[in-house]
Amino acid sequence: MRPFDGRTILLGVTGGIASYKSAWLARLLTKAGTKVDAVLTRSATEFVGAITFEALTGRPVHTGTGFFDPGRALEHIHLAKAADAIVVAPATADFLARAATGQADDLLTAVLLATDAPTLLVPAMNDRMWAHPQTQRNVVHLREIGYQVLNPDAGMLAAGEGEGPGRMPEPEAIFAHVGRLLERSGSSALAGRKVVVTAGPTREAIDPVRFISNHSSGKMGVALASAAWRRGADVSLIAGPLSVPAPHGPDLRQVQTTEQMADAVGELVSAADVLIMAAAPADFRPSKPATSKIKKGQNAPAPTLEMEQTTDILRATLARRRTSAIIVGFALETEDAVANGKQKLSDKSLDLIVVNDATEAGAGFGGDTNRVTLIDREGAEEVLPLLSKTDVADAILDRVERLANGR
Ligand code: CTP
Repeated sequence: MRPFDGRTILLGVTGGIASYKSAWLARLLTKAGTKVDAVLTRSATEFVGAITFEALTGRPVHTGTGFFDPGRALEHIHLAKAADAIVVAPATADFLARAATGQADDLLTAVLLATDAPTLLVPAMNDRMWAHPQTQRNVVHLREIGYQVLNPDAGMLAAGEGEGPGRMPEPEAIFAHVGRLLERSGSSALAGRKVVVTAGPTREAIDPVRFISNHSSGKMGVALASAAWRRGADVSLIAGPLSVPAPHGPDLRQVQTTEQMADAVGELVSAADVLIMAAAPADFRPSKPATSKIKKGQNAPAPTLEMEQTTDILRATLARRRTSAIIVGFALETEDAVANGKQKLSDKSLDLIVVNDATEAGAGFGGDTNRVTLIDREGAEEVLPLLSKTDVADAILDRVERLANGR
């Protein structure tokens, strides 16, 4: 899975209780296709066993114990050279202090000095230790000299001690940041750009307990938002009710109706460098939703719904788009997919349209794969093979990057 496939991550684990969560991080990274070199400090091995990481990564584990033993003279250099990125999770207050002062008195700190790989530090500690001016000064300094340091989450700490910031972010969130670190080590045309992505269906009320909607899961939009964020973009995801977890990283705005989605897009589009409308907003809504539950009654006739059209969100952005903005739409068709897609591209003045045929196996709503054709303003068609939605997202963003480079 891009950008993880075939890369080597050095996972540093220091001696905090959150180290039990690092085992799951090791698993996520390994599953995504990276080689994980786990380096445990001596105190980390008091909390978690080296064997746990060996079993999860399928690779030898390196521990701080015996760092100065004969035969290990170049271990820190080899590890530092092999790493495409380094993540230290958890990073204790003591570790941050040692890293901030450039000490190299154990394997992990020695690796940090010997590497030029991008490095992510994930602090986890008691909330008062995090808030202490010494720790804060160390974090400011570490950021100044080029380390990426995550802020800890707030919430209940170990053994019910404290509620303030100090908790290690969840492994899935750290995993997303590692992806961004790996991706940014290449240079993306999307880095620093404002990207707005919509995802999922919308819901239109029939009465206070019923709605009409569609089968969109939001997977494609979530994959696009995640991939754009990994490439360093500043991403806003405007999402209807999703059937998949929201991604880590992008700023999430949740909406229910097409009008709410139109309002959110309208608000953000004037500053957007890229707008990707992957959502499937409801095109029609009951024109007079009932204010109380429609009762079935005995022998009462079934209600007939009078419908009206909702706003076409892409069309509504026409006057608000920046002239240089790249606008991407989707077209889910059941017949004449390419011809209909081309028509939509021109009607909605798009730079790129992603066409898929809902009747094809492996394409469309709900599944993990998609088979799409990309069509640009010049009418050029690029037929992609059946791919995972993550790979489709990367292919779309590769095209968007090419367009961005030309503007
Ligand atoms: N779209 C939109 N506003 C809507 C409906 C759709 O902006 N109210 C966007 C979709 O997000 C997609 C593109 O328009 O990017 C095409 O959506 P699609 O449902 O395929 O087409 P429609 O324009 O709704 O036309 P039709 O239903 O007639 O196929």
